[in-house]
Amino acid sequence: MIVGLGIDIMSTARITGTIQKFGKRFLERTYTDYEMDTVKHRPKLSNQMYTSYWAVKEAAMKALGTGNRRGVCFKDIEVCHMRSGKPFIKLYGRAKEFQKKLRVKTISVSMSHLEDVVVATVIFEK
Ligand SMILES: CC(C)(COP(=O)(O)OP(=O)(O)OC[C@H]1O[C@@H](n2cnc3c(N)ncnc32)[C@H](O)[C@@H]1OP(=O)(O)O)[C@@H](O)C(=O)NCCC(=O)NCCS
Repeated sequence: MIVGLGIDIMSTARITGTIQKFGKRFLERTYTDYEMDTVKHRPKLSNQMYTSYWAVKEAAMKALGTGNRRGVCFKDIEVCHMRSGKPFIKLYGRAKEFQKKLRVKTISVSMSHLEDVVVATVIFEK
C-alpha cells in the first residue's frame, strides 16, 4: 500500500549557481560524503548529478510529508545507485524516524533529466 508520493523538479543552472556562490558550505550541508564521493568520479556530470540528488531529496521529503521541516535535513536522505544504474535511497536521522512511523518497507525512486531540468519521484509503500 502506498503511504507517500513525492515529486520534484529542479534546474541544473540553479544548483550550479548555488554551488558557485556557497561552494563547500552548501555541498557539505546538503550532500553526504558518499554522494560527494560518487560525484567526484564523474566530474563532467557533477552539476547534473548534484541537481538530480537535490530533486530526489526534495521528492523524498514530500513523500514523507515533512518537507525540509520537522527536523528532516537534506543529508538524512542519501542517493545511491545499483550496478545497473537504478537509483535507490537510504534514510538516516529524522527521515528514518518518519519512515518507521509510516511503516515504510519499500522505497522506489525514479529520476530523469534534460539539459537544464531534472525531475525525480519517490514512492513509499508499507
Ligand atoms: C516542500 C519542499 C520540500 C519543497 O518546496 P519547493 O521546492 O520550494 O517548491 P515545489 O514547487 O517543489 O513544491 C511545492 C509543493 O510541495 C508540496 N508540499 C508542501 N509542503 C509539503 C509537505 N510537508 N509534504 C509534502 N508535500 C508538500 C505542495 O504541494 C507545494 O505546492 P502547493 O503549495 O502549490 O500545494 C520544502 O520543504 C522546501 O521549502 N524545500 C527547500 C527549498 C529550497 O531551499 N530551495 C533552494 C533551491 S537552491
